[in-house]
Amino acid sequence: MKDENVSDILTIGLNKVYVEIGGKLKKTDVRFSSREELNKVIHSITAPLGKKVDESMPLLDGRLPDGSRINVVVEPLAIDGPMISIRKFMKKMLTPEEMINIGSISAGMLDFIKLCVRGRKNIIISGGTGSGKTTLLNLCSSFIPGDERIVTIEDAAELRIEQANVGRLESRPPDVDGKGEISIRRLVINSLRMRPDRIIVGECRGGEALDMIQAMNTGHDGSLTTIHANSPRDMLKRLEVLIMMSGLDIPSRAIREQVASAVDIVIQSSRLQDGSRKIIEISEITGMEGNVLLMAPIFKFIQSGVNSEGKVQGKFCATGAIPVFLNALKMQGFKVDMSMFAK
Ligand SMILES: Nc1ncnc2c1ncn2[C@@H]1O[C@H](COP(=O)(O)OP(=O)(O)O)[C@@H](O)[C@H]1O
Ligand SMILES: [Mg+2]
Repeated sequence: MKDENVSDILTIGLNKVYVEIGGKLKKTDVRFSSREELNKVIHSITAPLGKKVDESMPLLDGRLPDGSRINVVVEPLAIDGPMISIRKFMKKMLTPEEMINIGSISAGMLDFIKLCVRGRKNIIISGGTGSGKTTLLNLCSSFIPGDERIVTIEDAAELRIEQANVGRLESRPPDVDGKGEISIRRLVINSLRMRPDRIIVGECRGGEALDMIQAMNTGHDGSLTTIHANSPRDMLKRLEVLIMMSGLDIPSRAIREQVASAVDIVIQSSRLQDGSRKIIEISEITGMEGNVLLMAPIFKFIQSGVNSEGKVQGKFCATGAIPVFLNALKMQGFKVDMSMFAK
């Protein structure tokens, strides 16, 4: 827990303890000497949280005092012995400069993201687990002008928003009797009554996607969220499924129309084979043709190979496409350095 390089700690039974360092999972030689010791460790972690985990309630989800998230599963659900999963709270998030220096993004892409955030474009960050979505969401948020009111909604508060006028909300899982749940969706609906200029949802994974899209369409432009998907096109498919999960019976054509008018930009983050995270695509949603959402890539990471140390090689490229909304932004007085779009 004290090692700053470790971001995750994952155990299975007595003999398997893994840690993630620098984006790569590694098996450690740490062992629990006995079941009693493991039970003691679990108890010492969970008791201060006012929670217990045993056969009658074999799942536990909680937050440690330092902000880290912990999940414990015991028998009979965990077949090979108790599993502890800790996702450590990052003491600090990457700064824009650091992201450029480690090759996660180009300066031009960063300028473009800044322009989109300042220009109140609705942005969805897409990526797999651990690909850097939350980090990127935090980065985007840092560009929001300080005089705007922000409401953040998360399952587990991770975002570190520097601005003063930010209302942070966290959902609540159901209790032991299955009662008392306050979903992300409820919080999104509630946030509309809190006069936000911007709504930031940590991750859309259910029906809240509909409310988020509607909020984006009704005056809360400049809102941000993330969705789990492996490409911008997949993200659009997933978004459609999530909107359907809201239970509202909307024909898919109408869903796509709403998405087309709500979402301006999709940023795709990816964890590559060498453990590095990169922004591999930034695309604009430009409208619809027939039944199909149109998307135009503006930036891409083109991988050229892998060097002798296994590190991914390649470069960030502008595709030459100019975003459709650019003229409107210029008219609002935004200064745009057109060279960032040059191929
Ligand atoms: N651009 C990056 N370069 C290197 N490490 C990163 C980068 N972005 C995120 N990380 C690290 O990757 C891990 C997962 O990041 P996170 O933003 O929580 O991903 P996600 O929200 O997609 O699960 C964290 O340990 C974080 O510090
Ligand atoms: Mg995340």
